[in-house]
Amino acid sequence: MPPRSKLNVAILGHRFMGRAHSNAWHQVSRFFDCPFEPVLKLACGSDASSLAAFAGRWGWEETETDWRKVVERKDIDVIDIALPTFLHAEVAIAAAQAGKHIFCEKPFAMNLAEAERMLSAARAAGIVHYLNHNYRRCPSVMLAKQLIGQGRLGKIRQWRGAYLQSWLVDPDQPADWKLRKASAGAGPLWDLGSHAIDLAQFLAGDITRLVCHAKQFINQRPLASSPGTLGAVDVECAANLMFEFGEDGIGTIETTRYATGRENHHTFEVYGDLGALSWDLEDMNRLQFFDGSDEPSSRGFRNILVTDPTHQYAKNWWPPGHIIGYEHSFVHAVADFLSAIADPASGTLRPDFHDGVRITRVLEASLRSADSGTWENVN
Ligand SMILES: NC(=O)c1ccc[n+]([C@@H]2O[C@H](COP(=O)([O-])OP(=O)(O)OC[C@H]3O[C@@H](n4cnc5c(N)ncnc54)[C@H](O)[C@@H]3O)[C@@H](O)[C@H]2O)c1
Repeated sequence: MPPRSKLNVAILGHRFMGRAHSNAWHQVSRFFDCPFEPVLKLACGSDASSLAAFAGRWGWEETETDWRKVVERKDIDVIDIALPTFLHAEVAIAAAQAGKHIFCEKPFAMNLAEAERMLSAARAAGIVHYLNHNYRRCPSVMLAKQLIGQGRLGKIRQWRGAYLQSWLVDPDQPADWKLRKASAGAGPLWDLGSHAIDLAQFLAGDITRLVCHAKQFINQRPLASSPGTLGAVDVECAANLMFEFGEDGIGTIETTRYATGRENHHTFEVYGDLGALSWDLEDMNRLQFFDGSDEPSSRGFRNILVTDPTHQYAKNWWPPGHIIGYEHSFVHAVADFLSAIADPASGTLRPDFHDGVRITRVLEASLRSADSGTWENVN
């Protein structure tokens, strides 16, 4: 095989997503035939000492605490944004203007105005832009997309989604940036709901109209930055959406970080007039499929183990039945991102900043509805 050209990557953010992305940048060319060899060039984070330890562990060549200097570097090809939400727009716009390809974490932006500016900057620069709603890249979700595309569900009428976590049940859990409107945009609606909305729109159709019920259970917590001091929590604790999608579909999405016993319970059920699907992230190698054309005597949800070489991404890993996990969805995302850089005209890389705008429209309409207590149109 001829040597591949190198692509210098800078990662911004070195904690949870910093680790998940670093792993993906390392693994991708071991399992996928990539058009480029990613070079883990530079890691950026706000805390110099933990950043140095991170860079050492994950093999990033250099470190920097000022993201502006990273974006200005001529030798960087890709900016990987794994930062708190309030930084996404400023960084992404600067990166696009500097001609860097962008791999950006969700939720896309703090509001629709920011989202639109990010999209305009990316389009004007002609760079490849990717928004990391990584759950699309579970082979089981891709199989759901394929079955729906083949018409196996018929006309889709109902969507039932939930993204439930429990890490805030304890009132002593400290408040970090995810619990402040000014840094997170909103609470679980933004953080978890953006993923759930992305899957609903990817598989069932665009959300057109909605009503949102948001609730705050706790409005102050110990501050992570100043132990012993209580600080305000000004984002919702739980939010439920009811919505209409496509031509005449109806759906629901529940989001919370207060669901006792639920760690990362991201699920959907989708019902058509010919069939139905049920998916659960915590059992992500499987997809349940009810095929209404089966004989009535033996009909029922079949539980498909999505590890066959015919399933998307599966042949790049292990023999059938040798299951994969959460981190693999990030590797798949990086593989597709690198392919898109090699062939930007293909326009096949999704979700991208266009999807970021579409999702942010739904999120903003949800906040409007939570305030007004009425149905809101998305557009
Ligand atoms: N796709 C997923 O499954 C998933 C899961 C969790 C989080 N996320 C998203 O990833 C992003 C990061 O979340 P996280 O959980 O990794 O956050 P985190 O709090 O664990 O890490 C944030 C990082 O940003 C850095 N940072 C903060 N301010 C900075 C600044 N001014 N300059 C440079 N670095 C700065 C911090 O040093 C830290 O490394 C968020 O958008 C979040 O919503 C996505």
